[in-house]
Amino acid sequence: MQPLRVGLIGLGTVGSGVAKVLIEHPERMTHRAGRPLELVRVAVRDVQKPRNVSLPGNILTDDPRAVAVDPSVDVVIELIGGQSPAKELVLTALEAGKDVITANKALLCAEGTVLFTRARNAGRCIAFEAAIAGGIPVVHVLGQALAGNQVTAIEAILNGTSNFILCEMLDRGESYEDAVRKAQALGFAEADPAMDVDGTDAAQKLCLLTQLAFGTRVTPECFPQQGIDTLDLTDLQYANELGYAVKLLATAKLVNGRLEMHTQPTLIRRARPLAQVDGAYNMVALTGDAVGPTWLSGQGAGQMPTASAVLSDLIDVAIGRAQSTFARLDLWGERSPVPVQPAEEIYRRYYLRFPVEDRPHVIADITGILGNHAISLASVIQHEAPEIDDETDSGTPLVPLVIMTHRTREGQIRDASVELNQLASVKQPWVCMPVSD
Ligand code: HSE
Repeated sequence: MQPLRVGLIGLGTVGSGVAKVLIEHPERMTHRAGRPLELVRVAVRDVQKPRNVSLPGNILTDDPRAVAVDPSVDVVIELIGGQSPAKELVLTALEAGKDVITANKALLCAEGTVLFTRARNAGRCIAFEAAIAGGIPVVHVLGQALAGNQVTAIEAILNGTSNFILCEMLDRGESYEDAVRKAQALGFAEADPAMDVDGTDAAQKLCLLTQLAFGTRVTPECFPQQGIDTLDLTDLQYANELGYAVKLLATAKLVNGRLEMHTQPTLIRRARPLAQVDGAYNMVALTGDAVGPTWLSGQGAGQMPTASAVLSDLIDVAIGRAQSTFARLDLWGERSPVPVQPAEEIYRRYYLRFPVEDRPHVIADITGILGNHAISLASVIQHEAPEIDDETDSGTPLVPLVIMTHRTREGQIRDASVELNQLASVKQPWVCMPVSD
């Protein structure tokens, strides 16, 4: 049996996990792949650094390009992340006649068209199961198991770090900063967690899913994107009181022949499976015209779940399945792409929280503006505030006013916001989050 010779670029958290399984379970891998999977070259930044995986002698190098061009390598696994030099290394490996496996969603989101086209022209493939939702096999599901469907909706929790932070804050009353540190220590936040918590990571994954499901090439600039980094515990608690969980929700769904897309902290009704996703777990809720609603859930981050996704690609490359699936994915714009709906036209419910001065006419001013913009209110909460003594207390205290709207257009909310921002009784920042029932 001819082995499949593997070159690994990057031996960080995920790379070590991949190497560990290849080294510790050769029989399982050979059985599943139909031939041995042999780790022959590994590029690291520092060859002297102690590792917790014991590699065969002499396979380490500090030159990633040497792995990409090595004639003794059949397939290159790129796990260094970021755009450069990852892009150059992937292109070099493709030109050198190697298939490529990557977990790099930032690279594929920004440069996917160039890379996928180059792979196709070179007669090679790029497999990227690990780039979206860690251990959840959503790329395989879209490319194979649900290939007979037209997907009509994707709603997904795609960033484990953000989900973990939201759960820690609400369940344990932890501060945002402590929860971020814990996520880093547990190995699922990126080294720079900014892209996790500002929504970029989830938006990049949504772009890849959208391309696979709808053939539409989008970048995160094409739709509303917001992270959890500005969220306040107060809103998680109010949402809870109202029967909702706040999740960083990525959405791409067909509405009258166009795609409604956004990645935003969203109130999700607690009875829904998406609202119950805990810790660093991810969930992708897919609706297909034949299959109906389906839910895929699992660990979206971390060493072994992500390694699991890389290994499935490796087995597919060894068998030849990755190459045939890659040729049939909607990556080259051959199917007419579904256009993206302008953000102002998005039609949904909203949660609003205003820190307001507790004095006459404040609620009337706010609801008056909302009413003038044809925004109908579903509920209003203002908890009773302590009575103040006009004689002795100085200043007017602030109280939270929470409003749930009926469905309205994003454009109406934006127009109303301009006027709400001018009210002296409303303090900044006030909060506006979409609701998914
Ligand atoms: N940092 C990502 C997350 C995992 O927290 O989901 C890798 O995409």
